[in-house]
Amino acid sequence: MRRVHVSALGIALMALASAPSMAEDKDVVAYRRHLRITLNEQSGALGMILSGSIPDSDPVAHLEAIALTASYATKAFKLQVPGGEARPEIWTQWADFSKRMDDFARKTAGLAKTVREKGPQGVNVLDALTCKACHDIYRDETKR
Ligand code: HEC
Repeated sequence: MRRVHVSALGIALMALASAPSMAEDKDVVAYRRHLRITLNEQSGALGMILSGSIPDSDPVAHLEAIALTASYATKAFKLQVPGGEARPEIWTQWADFSKRMDDFARKTAGLAKTVREKGPQGVNVLDALTCKACHDIYRDETKR
């Protein structure tokens, strides 16, 4: 038993050492999904804080997490791997898609800064969360 375990680890390490720089398609799709689920959870947490359900908590941390996650997303889609709920228009209209994603990252980062400096009063957070506008064009929810 033990020997089997050790050799399996050996193979795994060898595979790591010789891993080509190209990512596997299924890994790229899975990676994208991790980013999006993060966005979803962070938005949910942010919504609870802004609605006042969670007192004495920090909306800035969640806004920063959203901005950071969004900033990785453009790169992940740049690999041009179809799959998941991604519509092909992401790549045929790359200039528009990547601009939306970059704007999303920039707006949420800007909002985090404003809220950190001035507090959440009078700030329209929903204005920066352009999730739906982008999903309507580039996400196919029927492909699950
Ligand atoms: C600029 C475009 C864009 C923005 C902005 C965006 N998304 Fe998405 N989202 C996508 C695309 C494209 C997919 C499908 C990608 C895929 O499956 O690889 C997706 C998929 C998802 C999924 C499905 C993940 C899964 O596989 O189950 C969730 C959840 C999600 N987004 C949440 C959000 C939330 C929450 C926000 C805003 C806070 C957001 N997204 C903002 C483009 C965007």
